[in-house]
Amino acid sequence: MKIVVTGGAGFIGANLCGELSRRPEVSQVVVLDDLSSGRAENLQGTGADIVKGSILDRPLLEDTLAGAAAVVHLAARPSVAMSVADPEGCHEVNATGTLRVLEACRLAGAYAVVASSCAVYGDRPDNPKHEDLPALPLSPYGAGKLATEAYAQAYAASFGMRTLALRFFNVYGPFQAADHVYAAVIPAFADRALRGEPLLIHGDGLQTRDFTYVGTVVRVLADAVLRQVVSDAPVNVAQGSRTSLLELAAEFGRILDRPLPVEHLPAREGDIRDSRASCERLHRLFPDLERVPLETGLRRTLSWFRRSAAEEARA
Ligand SMILES: NC(=O)c1ccc[n+]([C@@H]2O[C@H](COP(=O)([O-])OP(=O)(O)OC[C@H]3O[C@@H](n4cnc5c(N)ncnc54)[C@H](O)[C@@H]3O)[C@@H](O)[C@H]2O)c1
Repeated sequence: MKIVVTGGAGFIGANLCGELSRRPEVSQVVVLDDLSSGRAENLQGTGADIVKGSILDRPLLEDTLAGAAAVVHLAARPSVAMSVADPEGCHEVNATGTLRVLEACRLAGAYAVVASSCAVYGDRPDNPKHEDLPALPLSPYGAGKLATEAYAQAYAASFGMRTLALRFFNVYGPFQAADHVYAAVIPAFADRALRGEPLLIHGDGLQTRDFTYVGTVVRVLADAVLRQVVSDAPVNVAQGSRTSLLELAAEFGRILDRPLPVEHLPAREGDIRDSRASCERLHRLFPDLERVPLETGLRRTLSWFRRSAAEEARA
């Protein structure tokens, strides 16, 4: 079974290629990535073949997808801030890019799973966030992700294609670099904690997030591909719990066995206060999915940070 992963050299993609390399049903994994935020080195040891190029390049897409049974579409500009600075550029990659990938999947007869985001909920006060709530994207990034889901559903309805749209919530884990364009809080905390610097928190630190270990996300993606799981509505992929940034800082301190000083910065404009997913639909479709406790996920993340720092020091 040949599987194509767009954006496969990025954080989630590299973890997915590792997971797919351990699945006996998978004979070939091909990554299509323009390396704008991903790194070819992330794929070392996975056996994945890399095609360097953009999902916007139709002939390249068609060539790459020839003979593929399934496509995991992760390629995107994953930054809300960048989408506000350049809405049309974001639309081109995240919305038009998704349309091109789905069209190429249709021509190849391939199953498609596409990456959406909890950003489609905007700052709705409802918690947990259930997929049937009306979407309320507040950024061009959120709007592009809503378009991603809508196109996946439209291709299923119009052409009978097998598709699945997944809404990821605050994914963290190995290969998520602290200097990525999308400045996620867990890699930033891990990096500063290991350097002995204070952890930086915007606002009072009581804002909460549904932190989801990347191992959970890639297990869902690999199972979806191998079982060709479909849904006519988007599916949240999350842990289903909420943790405040102050609790997160304290958890890092417990794991590292030393108090970690925290420095508060002004609150970020438009920061979402609370975010927790309803995982009913996820567990109905993936009943064997195991939750990875935050402590376990953070320990694995810190080990990866230590290993990468040691490798950098040796290089
Ligand atoms: N990390 C999270 O918490 C999170 C949350 C919600 C949704 N997502 C979505 O999951 C997907 C993967 O995110 P990630 O965190 O791994 O980000 P990432 O930046 O590490 O990965 C994105 C990859 O897409 C590639 N890419 C960008 N534009 C491309 C183009 N035009 N053609 C080909 N490749 C291109 C990048 O080089 C990169 O390797 C994205 O669609 C993102 O929007 C991530």
